Amino acid sequence: MASKAAVKVTVTGAAGQIGYALLFRIASGQLLGPDTPVRLSLLEIPPALKAAEGTAMELDDCAFPLLAGIDITDDAKHAFDGVNVALLVGARPRTKGMERGDLLEANGGIFKPQGEAINAGAADDVRVLVVGNPANTNALIARSHAPDVPAERFTAMTRLDHNRALSQVATKLGVSVSEISRMTIWGNHSATQYPDLFRAQVGGRSAAEAVGDDAWLRDTFIPTVAKRGAAIIEARGASSAASAANAAIDHVYDWVHGSDWTSMAVVSDGSYGVPEGLISSFPVRCVDGQWQIIQGLEIDEFSRERIDASVGELAEERDAVRELGLI
Ligand code: NAD
Ligand code: LMR
Repeated sequence: MASKAAVKVTVTGAAGQIGYALLFRIASGQLLGPDTPVRLSLLEIPPALKAAEGTAMELDDCAFPLLAGIDITDDAKHAFDGVNVALLVGARPRTKGMERGDLLEANGGIFKPQGEAINAGAADDVRVLVVGNPANTNALIARSHAPDVPAERFTAMTRLDHNRALSQVATKLGVSVSEISRMTIWGNHSATQYPDLFRAQVGGRSAAEAVGDDAWLRDTFIPTVAKRGAAIIEARGASSAASAANAAIDHVYDWVHGSDWTSMAVVSDGSYGVPEGLISSFPVRCVDGQWQIIQGLEIDEFSRERIDASVGELAEERDAVRELGLI
């Protein structure tokens, strides 16, 4: 039986594929737990409002006891007014002939006004997760237009990469994913990301040692995880949706309820040589509803090079959006 006040959860791109895989799970209580009612706000662009209404009809038809209301809008100010959890999923995908600068600019047109709307109206405890790609840099854009919201409330999603890495290692070692701890994704949610098996543990030793196969780690594991998104697109003819929605649920659930060790892209405080202000994936723990970068890890040379490469890409993306006047 629900006992708390309803939490407002805003989902952008609500009529898209991830939206469809996400909304029912949020409304059923999997995002915030079985005691927390939710009010959903669905933000879409005008041509997709009708489809969002259709999804809302289906949500009604589920008769979820925790669903306290649904609101559908194309107005970001309205969607983010009083928001507690903002899931920024809608983004402009790269289309044929589009250069990277065009993609960043198109997304700037989405994430700048959304950042401003969050700044103007979000609840004091707002938590933001950016899923729409390029996720880290879109989060940076939104954050830079929300100066009144603490920077640590803006995060981007690398939990799908984290879960993919867990699954690959579990299969390789013939163990359950639950036997693997301390998995870490460093850097950007892109092909340069670094899934780190030297920090991960299985059976009390490093996962890299347990695997005992440097060539597999370097030539199979890392590229498989880093290019999994492209492999899914190739196989499905559409980008990952249910697994992305699942990762978004994991990310927010752990942020709110706590986690000893997970991967989140968060604003850097300079830890591990990642320039301050970049939104980069780190190993984090979540305590009392707040994330903290796990400190004191020794980084070997192999890992250092890969972290630096991915962080270098994030710095280039930051410089590009800065030149475009988006931050
Ligand atoms: P989709 O194209 O099915 O849906 C996107 C939706 O966003 C569309 O309904 C569109 O109308 C809407 N939209 C566009 N601009 C908007 C705006 N300004 N405000 C509100 N809504 C807007 O895409 P999808 O498969 O749901 O994927 C969404 C995003 O998530 C993509 O950028 C994708 O690349 C990204 N993604 C990220 C990860 C990750 O791990 N971080 C994983 C998978 C997908
Ligand atoms: C994924 O990792 O599955 C997505 O980010 C891929 C994409 O480009 O949408």
